[in-house]
Parts: sequence; C-alpha cells; structure tokens
Amino acid sequence: MEIKVNQAAEKGKRPEDSALGFGQVFTDHMFVMDYSEQKGWHDPRIEPFSDFSLSPAAMVFHYGQAIFEGLKAYKTSDNKIQLFRARDNYKRLNRSARGMCIPEVDIDLAMDAMKQLIKIEKDWIPETVGTSLYVRPCIIATDPFLGVRASLTYRFFIILSSVGAYYAEGLNPVKIWVSKDHVRAAKGGVGEFKTAGNYAASLIASEKANKEGYAQVLWLDGIERKYIEEVGAMNIFFIIKDEVVTPDLSGSILPGITRKSVLALARKWGMKVVERKISVDELFQAHEEGSLLECFGSGTAAVISPVGEIRYGEKVIQIGDGNPGATSMKFYDALTGIQYGNKEDTEGWIEVID
Ligand code: PLP
Ligand code: COI
Repeated sequence: MEIKVNQAAEKGKRPEDSALGFGQVFTDHMFVMDYSEQKGWHDPRIEPFSDFSLSPAAMVFHYGQAIFEGLKAYKTSDNKIQLFRARDNYKRLNRSARGMCIPEVDIDLAMDAMKQLIKIEKDWIPETVGTSLYVRPCIIATDPFLGVRASLTYRFFIILSSVGAYYAEGLNPVKIWVSKDHVRAAKGGVGEFKTAGNYAASLIASEKANKEGYAQVLWLDGIERKYIEEVGAMNIFFIIKDEVVTPDLSGSILPGITRKSVLALARKWGMKVVERKISVDELFQAHEEGSLLECFGSGTAAVISPVGEIRYGEKVIQIGDGNPGATSMKFYDALTGIQYGNKEDTEGWIEVID
C-alpha cells in the first residue's frame, strides 16, 4: 500500500537537548491509517501533526478500547539513526490487538510507515546520550456506538516526541512504593497487554505514592497480593546474592522488550538468571539478611532505572548507598552503548534507518 505524504506548511523547532523532559514535545508530522470492515486497514498517510475529529460517541471514549506501544529512535555520534528491536514492538502491538479484539496491522507496513515518518522528522532527534525520539504507535476504536462490543472501525496512528529522561531523577536511584490497597491487573485480565485502561487503573495508587514522595508504584499480584509484578512503566529486577531475579511473566505483567534484553545480556555474561515468583516478604527478608544487593527497573522510557528505596506499609528499605549499583550500571552501559551505536550490536538488535 502506498503511503501518501502531505508535508506540514510550518515547521516547529526542537528544544535544546538539556531542556527535554518526557513526552511534551511533538514533531511536525504523524502517520495515520484507518480500518473498516469493508476496506480493512486503508488510506495510510503521513500528514501534519494535528487534532483528530472524532464523534463524541466514538467507542474509545466510552469503553477504552485502545492499545499503544513505545519505542525509540537514537542518533549515533556519526549521525546515523538507529532503532532497537523495533519489530518486537509491533509484534507486541498485534498481541495487544488480539487481546483487545482489535484488528492486527501489517508489521511490514507499520515499520515502513514509521521509518518514513522518522526520516521526515530526523531533525527532531536529539543528539546527546540519554535523549532520543520516542515513537508512540497507537490504535483506538472510532465506531460511534454505545453498545458494548468490539468497535467496527479503528484508527492507527504514530506520533513522535523528542525526549530526555523519563524520571526527573535521571540515573539517580528512584524511590518506589508497594501498593497494599490497589491492584493493577489480575491473571486472566488484560495486564499483559499494553492497553490504555491499565494505566488509568494505576493512577489512584500512583497519586498516593507521589504524595508520599515516591516516583512510582510497585504492584503486587492481584489475587494473593503477595508477589511482586512490575512498576508503573517498567519491569523490575533484583540482584540477590549472585542472582539476577525478576518476576516471571505471570500473565498479568507486560512482557518488556528491555526486560528480555537484560535477561539475554545477563545470560550471555554467564550470570545466574532466575525468572520466578518473588514475594514482597522474601524481598524484605533478603534485605534484612544483607543479600538484596541491587534493584532496578527496565523499560523503553525508563531505560535502566536504579531503585534506591522501597516502601511497603510502614516498612522502608534502602538499597545501595544512594548511587546506582555496579550491576545496574553494567546493564545501563551495555544497553545504551548498543542503542547509541557506541558498542557493537552483537545480538542483532539494531536496525539502521538510511
Ligand atoms: N511494564 C509496563 C507497565 C510498561 O508500561 C512498560 C513500558 O513499556 C514496561 C513494563 C517495559 O516494557 P519495554 O521494556 O518493552 O518498554
Ligand atoms: C514505555 O516505556 O515506552 C512506556 O510505554 C511507558 C510509558 C507508559 C511511559
């Protein structure tokens, strides 16, 4: 399918790298494509970034049938544009689509559209390590209908945002808060899909955490409220003695692409790696025994984010000495080294856009 391009008459200006936060600056163009039962996915186009006009009855507003992805384009020191495991994001988008009764998109078409869009917007890619062009593909239900069923029409769009660090803390360890009263997802539900409602469901606990001075919520499983699942926007890792421990993909956490990259690197380096259930009690016990050495989150937006404090009810533990731990930094350096082209891509994770 041919992608039509309609260039924006006016171009914006990218802020200085040092002024970039996360998700506030949008580029001049976006990719859009629509779906109907008769035509399937049709009318792929790159057009100026602008508001959508949708019926107030559009099903996305009422029943939240929406999925999204998050990936990044990186600028190397020799001015190349690189993508990191991008196809995996579109595979996961289609997995979320199946989970939410949304028609799948053609991955080759989506990749092609994204690459064309990024090339048009190449001047929006910041240059410093730690900054990048964040890519947000999204599918929403557009059918104007108030009965509860899957929509018959959809819109797929990709927007781009020049970004810096996700957390104001940057690489300094963040504090996370274990939610006792709220759960994000339960096995059998939609926690393992990247669907908008999971994030809406997380807000009340996040607000409570923020009020207490914590950056994000560490979620426990929805059934026993005992086992650690993931953090608001990242998967979680612990270094316990000489093991890299992360919760297994229980069915209610997001299968992170950074998570699987960390696991692959750890295995390649010969580290002991365990994906298993880990309870919050075991974690606090390990801390008491001195065997909880490090903790970090992994995610596209968050990269590798060291965790320096965890609170559970009245119990608070400090991990490390206020600086990122050595193993966390080893993963951070390896991943960002590959992403920004400063380290060899031995795993075949990089695609250069030319
Ligand atoms: N868990 C949640 C809930 C997320 O939103 C994200 C971010 O995408 C992750 C984990 C990490 O996934 P990834 O490494 O693919 O970005
Ligand atoms: C990402 O890391 O890309 C995410 O989607 C997390 C987010 C909700 C900001």
